[in-house]
Amino acid sequence: MRKISLLIAVMIAAVYLQAQPLPQEVKMKQFIDDLMSKMTLEEKIGQLNLPGAGDFTTGQTANTDIGKKIVEGKVGGLFNISTAAKIRSVQQVAVEKSRLKIPLIFGMDVIHGYKSVFPIPLGLSCSWDMDLIEQSARIAAQEASADGICWTFSPMVDISRDPRWGRIAEGNGEDPYLGSEIAKAMVRGYQGKDLTANNTIMACVKHYALYGAPDAGRDYNTVDMSHQRMYNEYFPPYKGAVDAGVGSVMASFNEVDGIPATANKWLMTDVLRDQWGFGGFVVTDYTGINEMIDHGMGDLKTVSALALKAGIDMDMVGEGFLTTLENSLREGKISVQMIDNACRRILEAKYKLGLFDDPYRYCDLNRAASEVYTEANRNQARKTASESFVLLRNQNNLLPLKKNAKIALVGPLADNRLNMCGTWTVAGDFEKAISVKDGIAMVTGKPELITYAKGSNIVADSALEARIGMFGKATGWDSRPAEVVIAEAVKASQNADVIVAVMGEAAESSGESSSMSDIELPENQRDLLKALLRTGKPVVMVLFTGRPLAIKWEEENIPAILNVWFGGSEAGAAVADVLFGDVVPSGKLTTTFPQNTGQIPMHYNHKNTGRPLAEGQWFSKFRSNYLDVSNDPLYPFGFGLSYTNFNYSDINLSSNTMKPEGKIEVSVSVTNTGNYDGKEVVQLYIRDLVGSVTRPVKELKDFSKVFIKKGETKKVSFTIDIEDLKFYNYELKHVAEPGEFKVFVGGNSRDVKEASFVLTE
Ligand code: BGC
Repeated sequence: MRKISLLIAVMIAAVYLQAQPLPQEVKMKQFIDDLMSKMTLEEKIGQLNLPGAGDFTTGQTANTDIGKKIVEGKVGGLFNISTAAKIRSVQQVAVEKSRLKIPLIFGMDVIHGYKSVFPIPLGLSCSWDMDLIEQSARIAAQEASADGICWTFSPMVDISRDPRWGRIAEGNGEDPYLGSEIAKAMVRGYQGKDLTANNTIMACVKHYALYGAPDAGRDYNTVDMSHQRMYNEYFPPYKGAVDAGVGSVMASFNEVDGIPATANKWLMTDVLRDQWGFGGFVVTDYTGINEMIDHGMGDLKTVSALALKAGIDMDMVGEGFLTTLENSLREGKISVQMIDNACRRILEAKYKLGLFDDPYRYCDLNRAASEVYTEANRNQARKTASESFVLLRNQNNLLPLKKNAKIALVGPLADNRLNMCGTWTVAGDFEKAISVKDGIAMVTGKPELITYAKGSNIVADSALEARIGMFGKATGWDSRPAEVVIAEAVKASQNADVIVAVMGEAAESSGESSSMSDIELPENQRDLLKALLRTGKPVVMVLFTGRPLAIKWEEENIPAILNVWFGGSEAGAAVADVLFGDVVPSGKLTTTFPQNTGQIPMHYNHKNTGRPLAEGQWFSKFRSNYLDVSNDPLYPFGFGLSYTNFNYSDINLSSNTMKPEGKIEVSVSVTNTGNYDGKEVVQLYIRDLVGSVTRPVKELKDFSKVFIKKGETKKVSFTIDIEDLKFYNYELKHVAEPGEFKVFVGGNSRDVKEASFVLTE
């Protein structure tokens, strides 16, 4: 009887299963098997080729004869081309004129918003608000897809501890945990729940791996680090993106373990695919394969074969795959299987985007007019920008300002729409960006109370200014003597109640190929500040920057400093929202501000050494310190002031011991003791006191951004479990080791409450 009922159950299940639609994966495989069975070797190699369309370039090489190559099936995708109309016409060539009618994938560097430009990623990270960050990527995807784009080269998640490196602007700062959370939020925002929807786009996490750690902070330079450091401190954000289902990965320019990432099989296959389970495709960075000739890895044929063998699927710009793989195959240097694997992964990406169902899915000519740069999106960009600003100093509560104050608005970035958006703004319309001058007038409604004077150039040296301005965002060089320009600003300050000095870097002082050996504010801007201070009027410095600057002198002399990064198209309005108190600042640093350039690299989660300095000490002979500067940062990781104050209670732990399968609840009460409602980023750190390998003095493990009304107290709780205590040990096993742990909770990584517990066997 039992046997019969089992048989019936199996039969019912079989009928049921037959009636079910095939799982997506199976359908996709069948479709691609069928397509690939029709493809010639040349056509398969063609899919691996990604030329740049030339709307925008970041390298010296440019592609030619693209139309002809598309017809011949020698192009898999195109990047840096926009507008739905233009992309539609190119797609038409692919699906009407090429033999197999395979649609192209269209990529672009949509890094921090599209036409509604959001803050640069470093700024965005300082909001510590994952919903806001996800939303910024969602809006970017919506706008970009309305303009024909279905693939973005973002998120950039390279950990960096070196502000000399200009690309620190494009990442999320120095912390692996926060970086990983942000990577996930960005992927969710771009890709949404359904990648085939016409308003979601495929993300591409970059630059895999370690690109943020070049020697001496010089872009593209050599990277060399231990595997322990890679796994514990640099890999987590890339892995976070993979865990969130990112569709593609971009290889970095630098070498890893002496082999360029682009040819590094351990990195591209063993770690990425075998250990992390990545199933999407890998694209090189711009001419990444060709650059291996200069790295000293061989000629174009050799390096192209090395890249394919390592696990690279798509060749950006360089055409090494296109021009050499057939020969390498003939010579037995690579196999057909390798080409098939790469081709399959690219076709799969196109399938997942829904391009085989409708190649024009992202080419709706009507969407852009109603979905791009809308008022709602711009408002969201403005709100996001104001959440990214970090108040570094506010002596005697100089800020917020009164809306009826007479303002002397000075500085090279005060009336400068071109430089509001920061680096990597490939679609934004700079002329339409809101400058600080525009923003103050909008928010106060009293433009007549502003007296403006530029006061100085961004840098003192015109040749440097020209190098910075090579991407067309130069600020207009004022060739009059500096004293004359400063005198104008002093004059403009005469009748003012307060001076707002808008200083800092140009948009392109940071970003790709924009490394600096000295990260202090240029001397000419400091001269302007000194002259302004001499007027005796209170000075507020609004600081535009793509990197943490070494502003020790400013900290010691300027009463109020608001760091605003590059806030995007609505930056000026957001600055005014914060200056006049419509928004209470809540951003916290995700990157340490050093006191001077020589302290770099500097990060809060460093090791202790065998000769640490006692807390509060500056110098002690035969200890790890400098003669000329203390070991302290100027502003620590996690730091940021508010217009109100937050008071932390002692930490309450649910237990002083934790079993491996157990949990500990950590809670504090946070009271808003000031005069404004405000948001506080409550941060949880741990320290593993004894390890089989040395452990950092602090590691961020969780955070919570809470809104607390003035006078109110809120309890904030975190749960610690075994996963939070794990690290990669000497054998690169992910383990938690029994013993004592410290727990810290506070509003930044320095000023914290402390408790401890023991993890038992
Ligand atoms: C950059 C990448 C970018 C690519 C395409 C390269 O130079 O390193 O981040 O995605 O250009 O524009």
